[in-house]
Amino acid sequence: MQPDQQRRGVGLALVHTVLGAADALAEPLVALLGSPDYYRRYGFRASGEYGITPPDPAWGEYFQVRTLATYDPALRGEFAYAEPFTRL
Ligand SMILES: CC(C)(COP(=O)(O)OP(=O)(O)OC[C@H]1O[C@@H](n2cnc3c(N)ncnc32)[C@H](O)[C@@H]1OP(=O)(O)O)[C@@H](O)C(=O)NCCC(=O)NCCS
Repeated sequence: MQPDQQRRGVGLALVHTVLGAADALAEPLVALLGSPDYYRRYGFRASGEYGITPPDPAWGEYFQVRTLATYDPALRGEFAYAEPFTRL
């Protein structure tokens, strides 16, 4: 996002839209690669706290998870992106 377009609430709107849609679709969690300083406010935590490992271990605490209503702690292991993302 260009600097002159930041801090207008766009990020907040996008994150809440994704979380709301994923919850409505009964997804157990949302995972992303991003700044912990930014995403912490939305309840994201380092994926390791939930026993979920990133596709690349070097991502460390930057790979984060936000649990949703249907989350089950038994859901652990390596996170895999949907197949189309592997072609990027
Ligand atoms: C991070 C980003 C997606 C947020 O989108 P946005 O539309 O500016 O966000 P909002 O307007 O909803 O919220 C802005 C708030 O986030 C904070 N913020 C922005 N980037 C931040 C960061 N990297 N770390 C911590 N806080 C951050 C701002 O200080 C502001 O806080 P405030 O509400 O207390 O004033 C956008 O600023 C951006 O693209 N930044 C450049 C790239 C980047 O830093 N990416 C890191 C995240 S992956």
